[in-house]
Amino acid sequence: MMIWVGDRNLGSLVSQDEALISVLDHGFTVADGIFETLKVDGGCAFAISRHLRRLSASARAMGLVDPDLDVIRAAVGEVLFANRPLLAGPGRLRITYTGGFAPLGSDRGAAVPTLVVAVSPQAPWPDTTTVVTVPWVRNERSATAGVKTTSYAENVIALLRAHELGASEAILANTRGELCEGTGTNVFVIIDGKVFTPPLTSGCLAGVTRDLILEWFDVTEQTLDLSVLTGADEVFISSSTRDVHPVVRVDDRVWAATGPISTTMRQQFATRAAAEVDP
Ligand SMILES: Cc1ncc(COP(=O)(O)O)c(C=O)c1O
Repeated sequence: MMIWVGDRNLGSLVSQDEALISVLDHGFTVADGIFETLKVDGGCAFAISRHLRRLSASARAMGLVDPDLDVIRAAVGEVLFANRPLLAGPGRLRITYTGGFAPLGSDRGAAVPTLVVAVSPQAPWPDTTTVVTVPWVRNERSATAGVKTTSYAENVIALLRAHELGASEAILANTRGELCEGTGTNVFVIIDGKVFTPPLTSGCLAGVTRDLILEWFDVTEQTLDLSVLTGADEVFISSSTRDVHPVVRVDDRVWAATGPISTTMRQQFATRAAAEVDP
């Protein structure tokens, strides 16, 4: 695999074994960084403009120097081209932008950010999925609420718990007990034929897939209690690699069949996404 590694301004494509960053990079020492994960389909990165806009917004929220989006677009093109043989099927592309070489503590100093662009194949998800709720919460008042930061240790722990319980994703409430999001997904519920998703004030990430779903379908943003999940007619989660992903189990609640509305939305989302690479 060929990886693009460098700083905010300059970098190059190198093989995976040669791709190096400093052990004192603030992304490594204190998880001071931001990232994007893009779906790769037919060798192309989906919705890149939206992902780059969110990367810039995350950088501003973190006080990082603005990423140079031209440099990133060029790096993405080089990585996709160099890894064509790996990307015959679906893939995922990751852009990571960190605080760079910095002092050992939380101070960032005057470092130039580190930029890494990498891809890997992505095994297709099954048509349906399972989730569990976990006891930990998203802090909707956190300095990093809604920021796509690399500080994902809480998500790692929650996802481990989900896997222990035989599920593919963990869903979290916020500190008020409201439905928020999954470790790497947004969440939607369908009640009496209407589709609802928590508003950004819940502390969830403004998912690129969530944004597209809000634009392409009739969905209401509404504050919901976590308990809505087990009482809903249908549930689905969304992310760049999953698109619209119908849920057939939440904790002990199991649906005998995939819900008709989420199934239709999954198909319609796939059709629209296939028609437009950068919606
Ligand atoms: C915490 C969190 N919520 C939601 C999402 C879904 O966002 P997107 O649709 O942009 O992939 C992600 C993506 O990884 C995420 O990390």
